[in-house]
This record gives sequence, structure tokens and C-alpha cells, in this order.
Amino acid sequence: MNKIAVSILNCDFGELNREINMINDSHAAWFHLDIMDGVFVPNLSFGFPVIKAVKSKASKPLDVHLMITSADRYIKEFGQAGADWLTVHYEACPHLHRTVQNIRQEGMKAGVSLNPHTPVSLLEDIIGEVDLVLLMSVNPGFGGQDFIENTYAKAAKLKEMIIKKGSRALIQVDGGVDLSNIAQLSGAGVDVFVVGSFIFRAADPMKIIRELVEKC
Ligand code: DX5
Ligand code: ZN
Repeated sequence: MNKIAVSILNCDFGELNREINMINDSHAAWFHLDIMDGVFVPNLSFGFPVIKAVKSKASKPLDVHLMITSADRYIKEFGQAGADWLTVHYEACPHLHRTVQNIRQEGMKAGVSLNPHTPVSLLEDIIGEVDLVLLMSVNPGFGGQDFIENTYAKAAKLKEMIIKKGSRALIQVDGGVDLSNIAQLSGAGVDVFVVGSFIFRAADPMKIIRELVEKC
């Protein structure tokens, strides 16, 4: 049941086709695509052309993580580009309930992400409406950062809330995930693990993905 979502942020974009095929052939469950606008986070990444290119070759669902301020304006276009899961940030969406409904109306699964400082208790009144909660285990904007240890406690608290409220939401963790923390995260109730640089830094990325899957 537990899944690995491979973040392509730190892959070799000059060899995108090869990277997509590697993920297709691996034990990973999803592609994770990080969209950054240089406003909500201090970095820019990529947009619709890259999402469409990945979609045209991917044999697994696309999990799109928006780190942008004006998510509402682009929901339809992300669906058309090929997003299967669309996650927005709690901190960037003043009308989160409406945003989540719009995502689902466009036929996608809706996720909500929390920055490391944002308490899970703020999701109490929307947890029944969302398909996924993404806990950031680094400050969003860059791959390759150190994992924030408080994430274990946050995941456990969120799991409790999900059970209490009868929600179907999956718990996803993103940032600094590797072989040293994945088992403990799994024990805390995490369902989906986003992993980027730990995979693309490795000499044998497919082998690393297999080892991650075996541990969670
Ligand atoms: C950070 C992104 C992550 C990032 C994870 O803002 O949301 O998805 O690519 O990368 P690693 O695994 O390198 O921390
Ligand atoms: Zn991400």
C-alpha cells in the first residue's frame, strides 16, 4: 500500500526521456512534479510543457505539487496537462475549500500541503474533503535539504485526526526522505514518500527505489 513518488526536480533534464523510462521501469508508484513560481517559494522550476512531456511518456500517475500563489487560476490547465493528483499549499490558498472542490470538479484528486511550521490541527474542518495531505519535511523550494525531525510527530497527529474524522486522506511526506528515515515515517502512518535527490544522486537509481519500497 505504501508508495514512492519520485520527484524529478533534481533529475537530468537533458536526459528527461531516460529518467522517465527509469521511473516507469522502477518500483515507484507515482511521478512527483514540483511547480514553483518564485513568489510563494524562492525558486522557479518548470511549467506546463514539461508536465505534458512527462505525461506523454509516463506509465504511472502524475502527482503535481504546486508551490504557487495563484493556484485557482490554473487548476483546469493542470488537469489538461495531465495531473492526476493536484496538491496546493494551505499557506497560499485563502479559499481552500473552494480550491479543493475545483480540483475535484476537474477530475483530479485534491491534496493540501503544510509547511513545516503549520500545525496539522488547522486541517480539522477540511480533512473530510481532501484526498491527500502533504507534510513538508523541509522548507519548500529546493531539493537536497535536511529532513526536519518534527515531521514524525506531525504525521502521527495527522493520522489520529484522519482516523477520528473518518477521512480517506493519504499522508504524504516530502523533503529529505531517504533510507535512514523512511521506516520510521511509515511507522508514524505515512502512505506516500516523495524522494528526489537521494534517488538521482545514486549510481543505481532503480536499486535505491527498490530498497526504499522494501523499507516502507
Ligand atoms: C521541495 C520539493 C520536493 C523536493 C524533494 O520544495 O517539494 O519535492 O524535490 O527533494 P529531496 O528528496 O531532494 O529533498
Ligand atoms: Zn514536492
